[in-house]
Amino acid sequence: MKFKEELKDIGRNIYFYDSLGSTNDQARILATEGADHGSLVITETQNGGRGRRGRSFFSPEGVGIWMSMILKPDIAPEKASMLTLVAAVAVQETMEDFGISSGIKWPNDLVVDGKKITGILTEMSAEPDHIHHIILGIGINVNMTEFPEELRETATSMTMATGKTYSRSEIIRRFLLHFDVNYDIFIKTGDLSFIKESYNERLIHKDKEIRVHEIGRVWRGISRGITDTGELIVTSEDGDIPVRSGEVSIRGVYGYME
Ligand code: BTN
Repeated sequence: MKFKEELKDIGRNIYFYDSLGSTNDQARILATEGADHGSLVITETQNGGRGRRGRSFFSPEGVGIWMSMILKPDIAPEKASMLTLVAAVAVQETMEDFGISSGIKWPNDLVVDGKKITGILTEMSAEPDHIHHIILGIGINVNMTEFPEELRETATSMTMATGKTYSRSEIIRRFLLHFDVNYDIFIKTGDLSFIKESYNERLIHKDKEIRVHEIGRVWRGISRGITDTGELIVTSEDGDIPVRSGEVSIRGVYGYME
């Protein structure tokens, strides 16, 4: 990777592997061993790629970006989940640089043509008032031309969206530049007010009916948009309810993806 000189601390240390179980797991090990804030773990393929809520994440060799950032910000642990949305916007800005217009499914899936093109998995090691590290894992489907049967209806790639092939290192370079800018603003302001408007404009389920799946309860409402702190406002029979990520999943009621 020839772009390190352009970067500040995020992406200056890159750990590259031909193959890993999961970049998030390797990043956690490196973070625990003292890897610097901003270090990036990248692999060609994962044989144990992980998604949210215990799902696996398809990460075949040489056609995607499977990477995890190690972050050690001096912020309160309850603010960490906002970083996932900061990363989602940086990926969305990166896609835009390559001519791909993507939507966002709250909190952090990027969607093109109704199918998922990027997933983000944020994990944290913290005490009640102190973050040891945050691992921000990002999977971008770049040059794949097909998916296994079980993903065909729900997953797409940059190549499938445009017919072009892409340089993965150039995508990573653009992503790091966008993320760096957004990360600095987030650390200074402590909330998402600087991206709220563009995030909400991209929300694929804005003003649509969704189902909110909580443990032991499913309810319906109209999704409105995020607050300055990243909760999704859902208008239900009981009024406007702020929904926190991590505690729930949402599904579209009419057609758009889970
Ligand atoms: C999701 O869509 O549920 C989140 C998917 C996150 C996938 C990325 S790929 C790099 C990093 N390593 C993992 O094991 N998962 C994340």
